[in-house]
Amino acid sequence: MNIVNSNLSKRLGEEIGAIFQQLGFEPEFGQVVRATKPEFGDFQCNGALACAKKNGKNPRELASEIGILLANNPILTKVEVAGPGFLNLFLSDTAISNRANEIAQDERKGARLVENPLKVIVDYAGPNVAKSMHVGHLRATIIGDSLKRLFRFRGDQVWGDAHFGDWGFQMGLLIATLSIEHPDLPYFDENFDGEYPKESPVTLADLERIYPEAASRAKTDENYRNIARRATAELQNGRKGYRALWQHFVNVSREALKREFSALGVEFDLWLGESDADKFIPDMIEDLEHKKLLVEDQGAKVVFVHDKMVPAKDGGERPNVPPLLVVSSEGSAMYGTTDLATIVQRKKEYDADLVLYCVDQRQGEHFESVFRASDLAGYLRRDQLEHIGFGTMNGNDGKPFKTREGGVLKLHDLIQMVREKAAVKLNEAGVATDLPEEERAQIGDMVGMAALKFADLQNFRGTSYVFDLDKFLSFEGKTGPYLLYACVRIKAILRKADEQGVKTGKIEIQEMQERDLVLILDGFENALNGAYEKRAPHILADHAYALAGAFSSFYANCPIMSSTGETRESRLALAKTTLGQLEIALDLLGIKAPERM
Ligand code: ARG
Repeated sequence: MNIVNSNLSKRLGEEIGAIFQQLGFEPEFGQVVRATKPEFGDFQCNGALACAKKNGKNPRELASEIGILLANNPILTKVEVAGPGFLNLFLSDTAISNRANEIAQDERKGARLVENPLKVIVDYAGPNVAKSMHVGHLRATIIGDSLKRLFRFRGDQVWGDAHFGDWGFQMGLLIATLSIEHPDLPYFDENFDGEYPKESPVTLADLERIYPEAASRAKTDENYRNIARRATAELQNGRKGYRALWQHFVNVSREALKREFSALGVEFDLWLGESDADKFIPDMIEDLEHKKLLVEDQGAKVVFVHDKMVPAKDGGERPNVPPLLVVSSEGSAMYGTTDLATIVQRKKEYDADLVLYCVDQRQGEHFESVFRASDLAGYLRRDQLEHIGFGTMNGNDGKPFKTREGGVLKLHDLIQMVREKAAVKLNEAGVATDLPEEERAQIGDMVGMAALKFADLQNFRGTSYVFDLDKFLSFEGKTGPYLLYACVRIKAILRKADEQGVKTGKIEIQEMQERDLVLILDGFENALNGAYEKRAPHILADHAYALAGAFSSFYANCPIMSSTGETRESRLALAKTTLGQLEIALDLLGIKAPERM
């Protein structure tokens, strides 16, 4: 058996599984987990209980039988049958030291690659033209970016796509308002055949003023709403002046958005928009008609995707999943139309096996309609499309976070606030105070981003959490700054060793804390796998925190630089390995640690 890079729990699970098989049972019963208490050993296997129940056996007898067969396993020093039929497994120091050396030499620090890499698109952030990003976009960005990194690290081929909102009714609203405010602009003159100005007639600030006004006016002013609807349809049908004007909106917005993403340390591989799916729409509509999926419904065209009717609020019945609106009564493409056409595009141009949509869970129903329509039409299957929903970041009142004035907090202002507060925290904690001003500012930014991202990612994404900057920025507890501090501390030890010419050596564990640390290092693969399978970065965040904690107890009990000889070399190697794994884990959360602070 190839044991390199197989973590201890997997290895043990397979070996015990083989024994179950030898006795005529399924090997899955062999699975082991970390023991809950040190007196229960290092790992435990609870499979004898379930297996005995299923096969009408006595669980304790079955466990003893397995224990006997396991007894001469070279990596175990002791096997105990406990309680109703648990197997407690005690590993030898040699097995643990060997595993530690394997991880130390592995550049992936114990993490395996997936066996069958997939082509994956992560659709995340979802910024829009004319709207500056707000706190709601923060989670979509942070979680999506982490999943993109995680999938890529595991060996899948991944594209992160911003899926820029640049094509729907909002565009018509902007055009309508400008046509009323500035009818003299050449974009509105249908007979104009010169070259349109290079300079945008609007700034981002203009767009941000126009959009909300237009959106609320459209709710009450029917005439205006119709102008905007017509403008949307004409833009989509290719009216030249509208396209030229729209291109300005797109450029102005995209530049501003890119600046914000770069402050968050987030980059996209693709910056495609809803508009890029437009060229796939005519053929898609024809295809849907051909497949008899497109149905006329009150002047619009929809795809029915429900599988049953359920009671509606008005006493009647409604489909359990709403139909997907493909062509509006004005002939426009809708949010669902571009989403469906984007699936066609992702299949055709990227041959995608899997698409993850990192979007607020309140859009769940929309995605269910889109995914079902895709499945029905034979584009991507339902199981290749996943909505990775998440809860909200709330204020102290338990409602989505608002500014003190009750408005929506812009992402830009939030980032600014975090940066300022991080600088204050550094001073209060006496961190980085003796470093040059410029470096201190950089460290402040890194601490701020780590605080914000870790606070978000440490919760299961479906859970909402309360924005508490003081807590997020603390250097103690389960926070980003604490983890950065752990990295920096190890870096300082390694620097000192380097200065004194001390080299790392073979890891030979002696103390309990060393053993614990290696077992945590060994758990990296399981954490990655769990985070990957469940699309849940918090599992990785938990691992990073546990690793930093285990290092801290190790360091408190096992001095490194003040010890000597092989012990010093072994401990130094353990410290270096911990740093390597911690930096990988943090990188997968989108977090970067400074060299010193
Ligand atoms: N722009 C959308 C919004 O602000 C999010 C886009 C999400 N992605 C998608 N494929 N629909 O709500």
